[in-house]
Amino acid sequence: MTVSPQHAAIHRQLQAVGQGHLLAFAEQLSPGQQQAMLSQIASLDLDSLPALSEQYVLRKPEYRVPAALAPAIVHAPGGRIVGLPASSAQPATWDRAAAQRAGEAIIRAGKLAAFVVAGGQGSRLGFEGPKGCFLAGALSGKSLFQLFAENLLGAKDRFGVEVPWYIMTSPLNDAQTRQFFESQSFFGLSKSSVRFLQQGVSPSFDITTGKVLLASKGEVATNPDGHGGAVRALHTSGALQDMQARGIEHISYFQVDNPHARIVDPVFLGLHATPGAHSSGQMSSKVVPKVGPEEKVGVFVLADGRSGVLEYSDMPKALQEAREPDGALRFGAGNIAIHLLSRAFVQRLATDSSFALPWHRAEKKIPCIDPRTGEPISPSTNNGVKLEKFIFDALALCDKSLVLETDRVEEFAPIKNASGSDSPESCKQLQTQRAARWLAAQGVHVPTKPDGSPDCIIEVSPRTATSADELRSASVPRTIERGARVSL
Ligand code: UD1
Repeated sequence: MTVSPQHAAIHRQLQAVGQGHLLAFAEQLSPGQQQAMLSQIASLDLDSLPALSEQYVLRKPEYRVPAALAPAIVHAPGGRIVGLPASSAQPATWDRAAAQRAGEAIIRAGKLAAFVVAGGQGSRLGFEGPKGCFLAGALSGKSLFQLFAENLLGAKDRFGVEVPWYIMTSPLNDAQTRQFFESQSFFGLSKSSVRFLQQGVSPSFDITTGKVLLASKGEVATNPDGHGGAVRALHTSGALQDMQARGIEHISYFQVDNPHARIVDPVFLGLHATPGAHSSGQMSSKVVPKVGPEEKVGVFVLADGRSGVLEYSDMPKALQEAREPDGALRFGAGNIAIHLLSRAFVQRLATDSSFALPWHRAEKKIPCIDPRTGEPISPSTNNGVKLEKFIFDALALCDKSLVLETDRVEEFAPIKNASGSDSPESCKQLQTQRAARWLAAQGVHVPTKPDGSPDCIIEVSPRTATSADELRSASVPRTIERGARVSL
């Protein structure tokens, strides 16, 4: 069989990096399939494969907990800054009103963009399709994407500016995500304020041989490169350039699974963007106190003096359970994956090789074909390794990084599992609980069950309010009947 010069060149390249098997079945493909496969292979960073395979697949990097590990320094809700060393000369309090004023000025000047990472697969939830299309509203059944859109429409009403929204998809869900927005007329947002960008992929590896897996005779097995892939995607898609052209300086980062994310938060933005003893303005994060040692969230730490998140899977039990003298968890600043990043910092992460984010290894069951026979394999045990990057690894590259504690009910109602904690059901309950709290703060009577939870269902559109303060300007009922269903 004669092969095209492109085919021959790619084959040589593959052999040079020990992955010649990827074209083993090429001659059985139609010319169109062959071309598609060559393009897919050409889009991968082939030169990096030997090192990746050696470093992360054949050798299993053991995570070492840093020797000098301390809890993160946290801006607590009451205005105190906790976790400062006793010898610290830094201020131990912060001023909410000043932060709010600073943040509002930045929002009104049009310098804030919203950015959601929505490239994940949502396999734990068992939902087919982009997770943002999942119907999450407690009463309305609005999708997660619609709730975020209403959050931004509310910001426009309140601050008089359009906050542009960048949505990171992956090759697995990009087309469906775009179609969903089209079919919903962009939920009333102007089309020019919404921009989709696709994250990249990383090849998936055979766990024993370190060779790249074949998904089929004509396709290399790949996986989305993690939410840390956002850095590269923001750069290569031109989104950072687009932001610069619009005058955007700060990026509000959130996950698609959390409808309580307060995307436009002046206090957080003001703290982040005012350089000082605690913030370099590069990357800041929100945390909530962990509910208990076993909760599956990463925690904020200072590792050898630098900020970082220690993932729950990497945390030894003794550290998970360590307590302060007052009984609080020593490492209790739970990561809710809400960050602010400056555009300039993301630009540097994307373009300065000394700022590159590391890879993380995950062992998975990856359907593939046998590279010798071409027979399909549906593994029942982990046969492959996926490599991903995590955005929070950028924290260690900050000069200083600010951590703001917030209230769990107010800002964290994730949908991750099909049932139990962090499920659609728990999210709906939290929506009502938060709304009930906001109404009670205005003196509205909210009926309760014997266990103290609201005996009604309430959904407040994020366009109406994303906090108790914002709800004050809305018209609300004076009292709510037992069993009522109230939409505001
Ligand atoms: C994540 C955090 C954890 C935190 C928790 C809070 C990691 C490794 N851990 O856990 O510290 O406490 O959220 O909810 O992130 N995504 C992409 N592309 C990808 C992979 C993921 O866009 O390639 C997006 C998903 O769509 C989702 C988010 O990243 O919005 C989180 O991903 P997921 O893998 O579900 O993280 P968790 O294990 O829930």
